[in-house]
Amino acid sequence: MIIILLGPPGAGKGTQATRIMSKNGLVQLSTGDMLRAAVAAETEVGKKAKEFMEAGKLVTDEIVIGIIADRIEEEDCKDGFLLDGFPRTVAQAEALDQLLKDKDLKVDAVVEMKVEDESLVDRITGRYTCANCNQGYHDTNLKPQKADVCDSCGSTNFNRRSDDNRETVVSRLATYHAQTAPLLPFYSAQGVLRTIDGMADIDDVTVQINDVLDKL
Ligand code: AP5
Ligand code: MG
Ligand code: ZN
Repeated sequence: MIIILLGPPGAGKGTQATRIMSKNGLVQLSTGDMLRAAVAAETEVGKKAKEFMEAGKLVTDEIVIGIIADRIEEEDCKDGFLLDGFPRTVAQAEALDQLLKDKDLKVDAVVEMKVEDESLVDRITGRYTCANCNQGYHDTNLKPQKADVCDSCGSTNFNRRSDDNRETVVSRLATYHAQTAPLLPFYSAQGVLRTIDGMADIDDVTVQINDVLDKL
């Protein structure tokens, strides 16, 4: 099964991808996570990507398509995968279709997570993750059960993303509307677009996504 989670920054793509991954055994491919790892490791890709990411702009299609093309060749992707944050331009979507066609595969569903812009700024500026296992949290919406201790691994170290400030979020939202929203008519024309209410509670959103997947 090949599933795409599509939505603006802060829509909940990463949050839901983790849940779907543990329920359906689908591997999560997050270009954002891969690029952040490349920036941290100071690889050639990381050096090129850093400036774009900090400005809330998209990294070039060439870089991200290259990353995904290599990643889907790996063994853990052979039974399908869940894309989080890719594709983000029509050119990326077309490249993905071609990569899949070469393997006799196609996109099964694109889940659009619809959230109003006003909620997104709050979601993003309140977000943090476990420095050890990457479990995501939020200052008010999703706190660990025990204050300052990760539910999943017990770590007491947490990180905030450098692009999670108000100024960059506004730029990321504008980028989404200008460059990524055109994917909605693109996938609607392919008959694979499913829209869900991303404003609902986190658990409720999971139920909605599982409903979509169960019907495939
Ligand atoms: P990326 O890492 O993909 O960031 P993004 O798209 O901006 O999305 P986020 O990760 O910020 O949001 P999310 O939807 O995962 O939300 P989350 O689940 O964390 O990309 C970063 C950068 O990398 C880009 O700006 C670009 O430069 C580059 N890049 C990446 N991919 C690229 C590509 N394909 N092409 C070119 N450049 C690329 O949730 C957010 C918060 O809200 C959390 O705290 C969570 O707890 C909370 N929350 C989640 N759901 C709910 C809910 N239902 N109710 C209340 N709170 C909720
Ligand atoms: Mg994310
Ligand atoms: Zn942890």
